[in-house]
Amino acid sequence: MRAYFSRALICGLLAAASGGSAAVSNAGARDLGPALPWGADPPAQPALRRAAAIAALGRELFLDPALSASGRMSCASCHAPANHFAPANDLPVQLGGRRGDQSGTRAAPGLTYAAATPFFTEHYYDSDGNEAVDAGPTGGRTWDGRINRVRDQVAIPLLSANEMANADEAAVVARAARAPYASRLRELYGADVFRDAHRALQAIGQSLEAYLQTPAEFSPFTSKYDAFLRGQVALSAQEMRGLRAFNDPERGNCANCHHSQLTPNGELPLFTDFGLIALGLPRNPRIPANQDPAWFDLGACGPLRRDLAGQAQFCGLFKAPSLRNVATRRSFFHNGVFTSLRDAVAFYATRDTNPERWFPRGPDGKPQKFDDLPPQYRDNVNMEPPFGRQPGGQPAMSEQDISDIVAFLQTLTDGFTPPRVAATAVARSR
Ligand code: HEC
Ligand code: HEC
Repeated sequence: MRAYFSRALICGLLAAASGGSAAVSNAGARDLGPALPWGADPPAQPALRRAAAIAALGRELFLDPALSASGRMSCASCHAPANHFAPANDLPVQLGGRRGDQSGTRAAPGLTYAAATPFFTEHYYDSDGNEAVDAGPTGGRTWDGRINRVRDQVAIPLLSANEMANADEAAVVARAARAPYASRLRELYGADVFRDAHRALQAIGQSLEAYLQTPAEFSPFTSKYDAFLRGQVALSAQEMRGLRAFNDPERGNCANCHHSQLTPNGELPLFTDFGLIALGLPRNPRIPANQDPAWFDLGACGPLRRDLAGQAQFCGLFKAPSLRNVATRRSFFHNGVFTSLRDAVAFYATRDTNPERWFPRGPDGKPQKFDDLPPQYRDNVNMEPPFGRQPGGQPAMSEQDISDIVAFLQTLTDGFTPPRVAATAVARSR
C-alpha cells in the first residue's frame, strides 16, 4: 500500500463532485494561444524582442547537429519536432555517442507541455485541491525529477557519452563559437560570452529553455479535446465513452494522475499531476543495459538520480508524463516496454488480474510480477484502482473500455482544426 493514498482520495472526491465527465464544462475554457503583446507598454517592447530573439536562438541550437561530437546528433534527433518532440522511431532507448552506436537506458520523453513542470518536492500540496493533503513526491525534469530547470537539464544530453558526447563544457562551447549563430550569442549574452565555458553553456541552456517555453511549438493546446473543452466541437460517441472510462474512479481512474478536466482556475488540463509513482512495469529485454540481471533503473532512488539514494521508499518511482500527444508516440513508459498504445492501456487493466500476460514465468511456473524491480522494492508499486485486483478476477476495464480510452487518447494530439473555426475562416475570406 502506498503511503500517499490521499492522491486518489482527493481526485476521487473531485470526480464525484463534478459528476464525472458528463459535467465537463465548456464555461471558462481559456484560449491559451500564443501570448500577443497587444497590451504591452512601449518600454516592454525591447524586452519582448530580446525574449523572442533568445527563443529563436534556442530553436537553432535545438536543431543543430554540429553541437554533438558525431556532428550528426541534435536535440531534435531524439525529440523530433514533427512528432511532438518525441522520438520518431519505436526504439525503447535512442542511440547516440561519437559513432552513434551507444544506447541510453531510458525512453526519450516528448517535450510538449513540460514547461509547466513544478520543481521537485518530496511532499506536494496541491493548490487546486485540498491543500492539507500530501500528494507525495512530485515534479522535476526527467523521468526521476532530478533536475528542476531546463537550462540545467541540457548539459546532460550535451555531455553524456551515449548522447551528444561532448568531452566537456569547453567542447560544447567551442562548437557553438564556430556556429553561424555565434554572433547572436555574443549580441544577446555579451561580447565576452565565449571566454568562460561555464557561462557560455549557461547562456546556451537559457536559450534552449526559452525555446522550450514557446507556446506555439510546445504548448499550443490545439487538440480535438481542447476544441471540445472550448465548445467548438463534439467528441464522437466512442471518444466520449473513452473520456468517461478514463475519468471513472471505478474503471480507468486515469484522471486521478493524468488530470483531464479544466482546473478550478479555468485552465486547460495538462494530463499529468507530475507525481512520481511506481507502476511495476515489466522489464524490457530490448534495453541493452538490462542484459546484466543485476542492473536496475530504480528511478528516483538511482542510479541516475543520486540525492535520494538509499531511501527505499523512492525506489521504482518515475514521473507521470503528460498524455497530450501520447497517441503519436511509438514506445511507452520510462523503459519503452510497450510499442502500442493499446498495450499501454491494457497493462493498467490486467497487470494484477492477468499478470501472466505481462511478466515472464519464474522457476516456480508463476508470473514474476514487477520483475524490473528487486524484490525488496516491490511493495512500493501502486495498488490503487485500476490496479489491486486479484489474479483471475475481473479487470477494472473491459476490452471495450480499453478501445474507448485509446480512441479518447487520440483526441489529445495537437493540430486539430475545429470545423467551426474553419467555417469562420471561409466566411471571412469572402
Ligand atoms: C540521445 C537522445 C537524446 C538527445 C540527443 C537529447 N535528449 Fe532530451 N531526453 C532524452 C532522454 C532519454 C530523456 C529522459 C532522461 C532521464 O529520465 O534521465 C530526456 C529528457 C529531456 C528533458 C526533460 C523532460 C521532462 O520534463 O521530464 C528535456 C527538457 C530535454 N530532454 C531536452 C533536450 C534538449 C534541449 C536536448 C539538446 C541539447 C536534448 N534533450 C537532447 C533523450 C535525448
Ligand atoms: C497512480 C497514478 C497513475 C494512474 C492512476 C494512471 N497513470 Fe498513466 N502514468 C503514471 C506514471 C507515473 C507514468 C510513468 C511511469 C513510468 O514510465 O515508469 C504513466 C505513464 C502512462 C503512459 C505512458 C506515457 C508515455 O509518454 O510513455 C500512458 C499511455 C498512460 N500512463 C496512460 C494511463 C491510462 C490510460 C490510465 C488509466 C487507465 C493511467 N495512465 C492511469 C501514473 C498514473
